[in-house]
Amino acid sequence: MKNNFLTFFSSSLFLIILNISPSFCTYKDYCSAVFNCGEIVDVGFPFWGKDRPPSCGVPDLKLTCDNNVVRIDIMQVKYRVLQVDERTKTLRIARDDYFEGICPEDHLKNTTLDPNLFEISNGYVNLTLLYGCHSSLLVVPSHLRFGCPIHGDGFVKLGEEMGLWGCKASVVVPVRGDEGILVGVLKMEEAIREGFELKWKVDDGGCGSDCTDSGGFCGYDLKLRRGVCLCESGFSSSPVEVCRRDGGVATHDSSAFAANSGLVLPLLSSTARL
Ligand SMILES: *[C@@H]1O[C@H](CO)[C@@H](O)[C@H](O)[C@H]1NC(C)=O
Ligand SMILES: *[C@@H]1O[C@H](CO)[C@@H](O)[C@H](O)[C@H]1NC(C)=O
Repeated sequence: MKNNFLTFFSSSLFLIILNISPSFCTYKDYCSAVFNCGEIVDVGFPFWGKDRPPSCGVPDLKLTCDNNVVRIDIMQVKYRVLQVDERTKTLRIARDDYFEGICPEDHLKNTTLDPNLFEISNGYVNLTLLYGCHSSLLVVPSHLRFGCPIHGDGFVKLGEEMGLWGCKASVVVPVRGDEGILVGVLKMEEAIREGFELKWKVDDGGCGSDCTDSGGFCGYDLKLRRGVCLCESGFSSSPVEVCRRDGGVATHDSSAFAANSGLVLPLLSSTARL
C-alpha cells in the first residue's frame, strides 16, 4: 500500500516535471496535436479543443467532441460541425437544437453570428420560423404550417422576418438558397440539418504552410490576437513565419515571451486546466 502510494507519488511527480520541463517539451510540440472526432479529422489552427490546448486557437473557436459529434458554441447557440476545410477556411455547421426537427425543446434562439469572426458563404437565404401563432395561421397554406408541443403552432416564411404576424416568437435560420425548400416542412427540416457554410476571419499573422513546412506549428497569441509560428525553442517573429531548420529559432528568449506575449505557455495552461 505504502509502496503503491510512493510509486504513484513519484510517477505523478515525474509527469509534472515532464509536463513543464522545456527540455522534454518543445514549443512546437505544444500545438502539434490535431483535433480528431468522428468524421472531422486533422483540424488544427485556428481551432482548439480536446487534445489541442486553449492557446493553440482563437478562444471562440473551441470544438468539443461527444460520441463522435463535433460541436461549437457561437454566441451562446450550439451548432454541430459537419465539415471543416482549412484550405478554404470554411466550416459547415447546423443548429444542434434543430437537428431532430423544427421544434426545439429548449427556448427559442436566433442564429446570430459574430461578424468579426464569421462571414456566411454565398448561396444561403434566411428562413423565418414563427411560433405560437393563432389567427394568422388561417391564411397560411397548410404545407407551410407546423405544430410544436412546447412552442405552439407555427409557420415558415422565406426571408428574415421582422414582424411577428400575430405570433409569439420568431427564429431566423440560414438555409441553402433554393425555392425547393418551400415545398413543405420536411424539406425545410432537411435543409436546416444540412446546415450552412461560414468563412472564418482570423488573422493568422502569416502563420500557414511556411510555418508547418519549416517544422513548426501555428498557435494563437491572445494579446496580439493573431496566429504565431511555434518552433522548437520559441516562436518566430520574422515577417515570414518560419522556424530555422537547425531547430533553434528563439528570436525571443523564453523569459521574454512569457512576459510579452499572450500565448499561454504549457506551464500556465496546465495550472489553468486544474
Ligand atoms: C430573431 O430575430 C428576429 C429579427 O431578425 C426578431 O424579430 C426575433 O424576435 C428574434 N427571435 C428571438 C427568439 O430572439
Ligand atoms: C439573414 O439575416 C441576417 C440577420 O439575421 C442578415 O444579416 C443577413 O444578411 C440575411 N441574409 C440574407 C441572405 O438575406
